[in-house]
Amino acid sequence: MRDSRVGFGLLGAGLIAPFHARALQASKVAELVAAADLDAARLTRITDTFGCKGYSSLEAMLEDPAVDVVSVITPNHLHADAVLKAAAAGKHVLIEKPPAMSLREVDEMEAACGKAGVKACVTVQCRTRKAVQAIRGALAAGRFGKIYHADAYMKWFRSTEYYRSDAWRMSRRSGAGVTIQQAFHYVDLLQYLVGPAKTVEARMTNLAHPDIDVEDTLLSFVTYENGAQGVVQASTALWPGTDVRIEINGENGTAIMVGERVDTWKFREERPEDKEIRTYGSAAVQTGATGAADLGFQDHQVVIDDMACAILSGREPMIGLASVRPTLEWSLAMYLSAKSGAAVTLPLLDESAVW
Ligand SMILES: NC(=O)c1ccc[n+]([C@@H]2O[C@H](COP(=O)([O-])OP(=O)(O)OC[C@H]3O[C@@H](n4cnc5c(N)ncnc54)[C@H](O)[C@@H]3O)[C@@H](O)[C@H]2O)c1
Repeated sequence: MRDSRVGFGLLGAGLIAPFHARALQASKVAELVAAADLDAARLTRITDTFGCKGYSSLEAMLEDPAVDVVSVITPNHLHADAVLKAAAAGKHVLIEKPPAMSLREVDEMEAACGKAGVKACVTVQCRTRKAVQAIRGALAAGRFGKIYHADAYMKWFRSTEYYRSDAWRMSRRSGAGVTIQQAFHYVDLLQYLVGPAKTVEARMTNLAHPDIDVEDTLLSFVTYENGAQGVVQASTALWPGTDVRIEINGENGTAIMVGERVDTWKFREERPEDKEIRTYGSAAVQTGATGAADLGFQDHQVVIDDMACAILSGREPMIGLASVRPTLEWSLAMYLSAKSGAAVTLPLLDESAVW
């Protein structure tokens, strides 16, 4: 840690790496010191563009004392192994979503970080949006009354070229497929806002990418532990892709976020802050609907800055592994339900049949 900035090393120099790099460049508490990738051309693109050191392996980057945090931004099935190695080397970890492919791996990661005394956080960055925090505040204040419905509608588009751009994007075991890859963010928001799922039913289809063997469309029902019900509809088949909608309906109010903006904010009892909350967010901010790189880095920066501040002050980061575990559990339950055709009740006691 130099000049009280926390040093980050990116493991993975692919599609999402420039977003992490830009967020780190803009940060006042964190800095990009290195990147590592097996692919020399990708690595050079990041090191040349952002002026950081380059390593050809995680192991080499772990030797660098300037790296305080390893940002694990490799394909999904590779996260767990990297986290275990980074923690053993005494490095903190910032992990892209989904944190891993199984609950067993998440538990191992959590235990390894605890044993090594390092911090772990997960980039489910949508939680940091002002609209989401406003909904969370209204829920905590009881403004919705009893929650009846909490839904996510993600009608996005990804081209066949996107799926073909890397082998892992076409492989379920590597964490491809709309449910665990794209919809994870919005299942996470529902879990974060309304609570864990109790029972899920799901149907998965491939509507528009016949050459590729993963689901591009998910239709799912959920009953939450608190008795509310909901729908998760997610697709990457629906050209041109429209902004995600998160809808929360309670006996005393309704809030709808579209993209990152507050679209609807109505409560039986109006409060002074409501007028301003209705202005939160902007339709001009891209949130990934039309392409994998159609998004800003600001939400990532909030998570990265929080992680750096957590390290500097000794507190826990705001998005720890344990808080994302129920999102993974819900996601895995949807895969099991789609396979069996039956409803799945949580907790998942046996995840061996998921992949
Ligand atoms: N939070 C978000 O909004 C968001 C958006 C996109 C992607 N992601 C996540 O980021 C992660 C990476 O996605 P991506 O689209 O950038 O993937 P990508 O395939 O474009 O990049 C991954 C990189 O990791 C490298 N790599 C693989 N194995 C490695 C190893 N053992 N050592 C070093 N490098 C290795 C690959 O060569 C590749 O360059 C995934 O977990 C994905 O879910 C998150």
